[in-house]
Amino acid sequence: MELLLAMTGKDPEPWLTSLRQALPDARVRVWAEGDSALANYALVWKPAPAVLRGQGGLSAIFNMGAGVDGILDLDANHPGAIPQDVPIYRIEDAGMAAQMVEYACYATLRYFRRFDDYELQRRECLWKPLEPRVASDFVVGILGLGSLGAAVAAKLASFGLAVRGHSRTPKSVEGVHCFCGEASFDAFLEGVQVLINLLPNTPETRGVLGAKTFAKLGEDAYIVNLARGVHLVEDELMHAIRTGRISGAMLDVFSVEPLPSMHPFWTDPRITITPHISAQTLLDESIKQVARKIAAIESGLTPTGKVDLVRGY
Ligand code: NAP
Ligand code: GLV
Repeated sequence: MELLLAMTGKDPEPWLTSLRQALPDARVRVWAEGDSALANYALVWKPAPAVLRGQGGLSAIFNMGAGVDGILDLDANHPGAIPQDVPIYRIEDAGMAAQMVEYACYATLRYFRRFDDYELQRRECLWKPLEPRVASDFVVGILGLGSLGAAVAAKLASFGLAVRGHSRTPKSVEGVHCFCGEASFDAFLEGVQVLINLLPNTPETRGVLGAKTFAKLGEDAYIVNLARGVHLVEDELMHAIRTGRISGAMLDVFSVEPLPSMHPFWTDPRITITPHISAQTLLDESIKQVARKIAAIESGLTPTGKVDLVRGY
C-alpha cells in the first residue's frame, strides 16, 4: 500500500515515523515538487495544488484537521486539484475536543467571573469588587454542535451556566438547550452573553459573526471565535466593541494569519488574541484514527467523518 503525505507548515518527520509504526506494511513517502507517482491513500493538510492532481485512483484522502476548507477551497481555486469521486475524510476529535473544551471554558469563565475586568483594574492598582454574575442566569451560546461544539456545550453546562447550542439539524446534548435551523437562529441569539463559534467554513456560515448577529445578543455580550477567521466580520466587531455593543472578544482565528502587526485587534485591551492554537491536530491520536479508517476501508466499510461535498463540511 502506497501512502502519500503532504502537510503544509508541519515537519513531516514525526508524522512519517508515527505512520510507519501504525501501518508497518505500508510504503509511506513525503510529497515533493514533481512527484506524480500513484498512491492508495493521501494524508494532507492545506496541500499545494499539484499534490493530488492526477491521483484519481486514491481510495481516500485524509484531511489532517477538523476543518476541510483548506482542501475544498483548493479545488475551487484550482479546478482539478482534487480528484473527483475520491472520498475525503476529516479528523474527528482525536484529542481536539478536549483542547477546545479547555479553551472555551477558560474564555467563558474568565468573562463570567469578570477576571478580564480585574485585569484592567489591576493595571490601575484599583481594588474594587464588582457585582458577581449568577451562573444559572448567564447565557452561553455555542454555534455548531458537532464533534467540538457538543463537547464544549456539555462541559460548560456542567458549571451550571445556561447553555444553548445551534446546529443545522436537530441535536441533543445533556443540559443544553438545543436550537436548529435558520428559523430558530434569532431565538437562539436572544440574551446570549458569551457567543462561542465552532461552525465549519461554508458559504452559509461565513460572516455569521457580524453586526446583524451582534445586534441580537444580550447586553455587553462577549465573542469567542474558535473556528475560522472568515466567520468574523472584523471591522464590525471593532466597531461593536468601540461603541460598547460588544464588551470584548477572545479570538483564535483571523481572516489573515498570522494577524498583521498593524491590525487594530492587537492594541485593544478588550481583545485577547491566540495564534490559531485552540485545538491542534495531535500526531499520535490522529494517525491512529487514520490507520483505523484505512483498515475499515480495506475491509469494505465506510468509516465516519466522510466529508459531504454538497454540504461543504
Ligand atoms: P463538525 O463535527 O462538522 O460540526 C459542525 C457543526 O456545525 C455541526 O453541528 C453542524 O450542524 C453545524 N453547522 C454546519 N453548518 C451550519 C449552519 N449553516 N447552521 C447551523 N449549524 C451549522 O465540526 P467540528 O469537528 O466540530 O469542527 C468545527 C470547526 O472548528 C471546523 O470546521 C474548523 O473550522 C474549526 N476548528 C478550529 C480549530 C482551531 O484550532 N481553531 C481546530 C479544529 C477545528 P449539524 O450537526 O446539523 O450537521
Ligand atoms: C484546525 O484549524 C482544524 O481545522 O483542525
